[in-house]
Amino acid sequence: MSENHRYNFDFIVIGSGLAGLYSALQLARNGTVAVITKGNVDDCNTRYAQGGIACVLDAADTFDEHVRDTLAAGDHLCNEAAVRKIVEAGPSKVRKLIELGAHFTTRGELGEVKNQDDFDLGKEGGHTKRRIIHAGDITGAEIERILVEEARSNPNISIFENHIAIDLITSWRMGWIGDDMCLGVYALDSDNNVVKTFCSLATVVATGGAGKVYRYSSNSQIACGDGIAMCYRAHAKIANMEFFQFHPTILYHPQVNSFLISEAVRGEGAVLKKQLSSGKYVEFMDSYHPMKSLAPRDIVARAIDNELKRSGQRCVYLDIRHHSEEVLRRRFPNIFEKCMSVGINMAKDLIPVVPAAHYTCGGVKTDTNGFTGINGLYAVGEVACTGLHGANRLASNSLLEALVVSEFAADDIVAKLDELKKRSSQNMIPDWQAGKATNSDEQVVITHNWEEIRHFMWDYVGIVRTDKRLERAKQRISLILREIDKYYWDFFVSKDLLELRALASVAELIIDSALSRKESRGLHYNSDHPERNTALDCVDTVIQKPSSR
Ligand code: FAD
Ligand code: SIN
Repeated sequence: MSENHRYNFDFIVIGSGLAGLYSALQLARNGTVAVITKGNVDDCNTRYAQGGIACVLDAADTFDEHVRDTLAAGDHLCNEAAVRKIVEAGPSKVRKLIELGAHFTTRGELGEVKNQDDFDLGKEGGHTKRRIIHAGDITGAEIERILVEEARSNPNISIFENHIAIDLITSWRMGWIGDDMCLGVYALDSDNNVVKTFCSLATVVATGGAGKVYRYSSNSQIACGDGIAMCYRAHAKIANMEFFQFHPTILYHPQVNSFLISEAVRGEGAVLKKQLSSGKYVEFMDSYHPMKSLAPRDIVARAIDNELKRSGQRCVYLDIRHHSEEVLRRRFPNIFEKCMSVGINMAKDLIPVVPAAHYTCGGVKTDTNGFTGINGLYAVGEVACTGLHGANRLASNSLLEALVVSEFAADDIVAKLDELKKRSSQNMIPDWQAGKATNSDEQVVITHNWEEIRHFMWDYVGIVRTDKRLERAKQRISLILREIDKYYWDFFVSKDLLELRALASVAELIIDSALSRKESRGLHYNSDHPERNTALDCVDTVIQKPSSR
């Protein structure tokens, strides 16, 4: 590192979940890679994934059926060509993960007598076939484990932990003429409190989603939408932010903070039940959808929300008591242990659950190569919107997308390498201009704003929306954004402030997108416009920050 904290790499990857590390491993074959990540290398949503990867691996399954289920869940908003391309690439990419050393559960391990070596394929909401390859109920941890191992031992990859990306460096940002291009990123080294300049030929944003914008969320602390906000400031297109997915079944218990009960539990026959005033527990999903408890996620979450609002109760319940303790311990070891730790034995007790914010279906608009339209700038994984998910993501299609598109992105970058090299202007990039002060007594204000956003997003921009509530949310977010821009930003840069700025920006993108969509579709339900408008089929909501050019 030079005195002025400057680094030159061939490629930069921001984020170290599945999308980031898999991109880095592919790119490292063609040059040096900096992986910039804001916490420890394995702080990410990937690590918490339970259900698995949706992928056609069974002879009784077909690509057409996987495509059909994805389109049905996406409620007439998916890009069918993108869906087909990603679905069809799934099996070969999953095999590469296996070659790298990922261990997925076989039927033999579950004690089945036939087909001992075949992978056990789980089922989840919206899938008409068993097609989820999994590592017990800790699929994400297994994937992250092997990717971290591979990345750490690769001499072409340097991992910068506790470095939070602040802003992309683009040619337009610097006032240069010609096509816009991304030249790198400024990042805060939060251990040493210095801002560093990372220059590259191509930059891959793999910063994940924005679940933390809501008060109740299944997501890791990192999920603040940093990459979406950063790309928006860089004038990239942002699409479909109104489609925020709420997972129907988060464990409801005072001693547990946001623990997911995988949809795979319903795949093994668990049914949702509500408690009547008589004390009796009864199923309710049959009055909402023919697939009942295994209906697509938007429908199940909305049904639960409706039941809770009608009854005033705090939670509904999952009933999987038809399986023995032995079977459940073997299939869901992690979930079983977590439930036991608070006195719930899944084989004997009902599991109390509530919905919570889970997945950002919208994001930085890209093609299936992760290309954003800005030269040298790519977005992959949950941060991106490729057209795969449409108005509602089909369960376990996210890990599939992160895996497949990361490799496509790396291939695209490598194919354009000569052109990127010609445009390279690393020496002309200015260093970060420091703010006026590094000390602040404003932590309380940051915490307050953070809490306020998460509360009103939950209450006004949640599972069921109205025009009036969205307008209220808009007024509040405008105020907070003005405060951030005009007040704190001049004073100091800290990780908390950067995350608050991202969260506020993403909240505004969600609100604006929701306000502009005057219909109900998939995850966006507005009771003032309860019907789907067929004229808007396949019409994305796209927001782009105006440029002064
Ligand atoms: P992440 O894994 O979230 O990684 C993002 C990375 O970016 C992190 O390393 C983070 O620290 C870093 N980062 C963020 N901002 C910055 C910044 N400003 N500077 C530097 N670094 C930054 N999907 C499935 O398909 N199947 C499942 O079974 C499944 N189960 C899930 C269970 C849970 C509890 C959750 C929360 C999600 C689940 N999902 C599942 C969704 C899936 O896990 C995620 O969509 C996927 O892992 C996202 O991968 P990613 O690499 O895009 O992002
Ligand atoms: C789950 O295991 O229920 C989560 C799957 C997903 O989010 O795709």
